[in-house]
Amino acid sequence: MPEMLRTDPNIIITGTPGVGKTTHCQQLATATRLHHLDINEVVKKHNIGESSTDPDDPNTKIVDEDRLLDCIENDLEEGGQIIDWHACDLFPPSLIDLVCVVRCDNKLLYDRLKKRGYSGKKLEENMDCEIMEVLLQEAREAYDEDMVVELRSEKTEDVDANVERIEKWIEQWRKDHGKEGGEDVKAQGGGGKDEDNPMFLHG
Ligand SMILES: Nc1ncnc2c1ncn2[C@@H]1O[C@H](COP(=O)(O)OP(=O)(O)OP(=O)(O)O)[C@@H](O)[C@H]1O
Ligand SMILES: [Mg+2]
Repeated sequence: MPEMLRTDPNIIITGTPGVGKTTHCQQLATATRLHHLDINEVVKKHNIGESSTDPDDPNTKIVDEDRLLDCIENDLEEGGQIIDWHACDLFPPSLIDLVCVVRCDNKLLYDRLKKRGYSGKKLEENMDCEIMEVLLQEAREAYDEDMVVELRSEKTEDVDANVERIEKWIEQWRKDHGKEGGEDVKAQGGGGKDEDNPMFLHG
């Protein structure tokens, strides 16, 4: 197996539109030295989204996933990326360390999407996506179950608590991978036990 070069983990923050992905990514990037990799920005910058032909939803972009991966492959190999995107199964599991599926109460999400001006089919489809747990299923199918965690994002305090939890997980990841303080912890007989994993203590 090729040696993992990244000195910081790659974390996916995914979920239905409006659940709070970007809110989490921004706060997490501020709290850590990780980089907020906003896929919406990548799509715009590299012009790899085609406008939807759906007359109800002309602003939605259909993204060429192969080209997207080409654009971010180097970043992922380097590590330390917080990936902000409403899909997750396109990222190669070997380059991903943690998948957070952000969740939100249906009524609250409905209000958030309405406030954005979503209506009709678009509102309905996004609500169905959350109700049917589409992103959670997608994450569980694409990645090992011990990499996938659900995070609630309903109140401001939820974001604070989730970010703190991910920060602890990052610290543990660095210890487990011998990336802390430049010392090789694993070579000294360190390394993580599952019960030390702060993301899954209550999961
Ligand atoms: N935990 C929370 N408490 C209060 N407000 C929240 C919370 N999470 C998100 N919000 C609010 O909900 C709205 C949507 O959040 P955000 O933009 O982070 O969602 P998103 O998942 O990135 O959406 P998109 O997929 O469209 O990019 C914002 O107005 C944000 O302030
Ligand atoms: Mg967003």
